[in-house]
Amino acid sequence: MQSDPGSEDKVNDHDRQANDAIETILPPDQQDQGAEAVEIDCHISEQDHALGVKGVNRALATCAQKLHIDTIQRHIFLCADQTKPKCCQKEVGLQSWDYLKRRINELKLGVKVFRTKANCLRVCDRGPIMVIYPDGVWYHSVTEAAIERILQEHVIGGQVVQDLAFVITNSDKAILPLATSTSETETSSTKSPSGKDVAAPS
Ligand code: FES
Repeated sequence: MQSDPGSEDKVNDHDRQANDAIETILPPDQQDQGAEAVEIDCHISEQDHALGVKGVNRALATCAQKLHIDTIQRHIFLCADQTKPKCCQKEVGLQSWDYLKRRINELKLGVKVFRTKANCLRVCDRGPIMVIYPDGVWYHSVTEAAIERILQEHVIGGQVVQDLAFVITNSDKAILPLATSTSETETSSTKSPSGKDVAAPS
């Protein structure tokens, strides 16, 4: 019997979506670190449900605490793995997404920087498209090399990558370097993949 040529892709898509779903409920500092990562249970118990709004809000607040949501300084949205790839080829978007995840982990930015894969950011040209909040900076052509610059210069250093940015919606607000504690600065890698030293954030 002949197998459906698209079935393998569908299975891979399903696996990838399942993995991404799991990653969203891991503590940021444990994401992508293999089998030892502990999954956070954000399940709302029957008891909390029975308490109504108060119980549900309390359970979700506990979940948010476990995810270190209160320490997030920037949230990156990247158009990737689209249902209808328009701004770039699907493979290009996925390559950028994998690179973004890997570098956020390597740079130990997980407790300060959230990342979310968007199906479409509606710009649909010159992709992959990325937007970073709360800064409101939109970037085009976000390939691996561009992501490295955006992470080092904008996310860590607080400097917009001007030649890739096409809109800044919060231009009246200052974009600041990522705040770090002394101990985190000491343990975080500030080298690019090429081994080049990058100025440590103040
Ligand atoms: S498909 Fe990427 S922005 Fe629409």
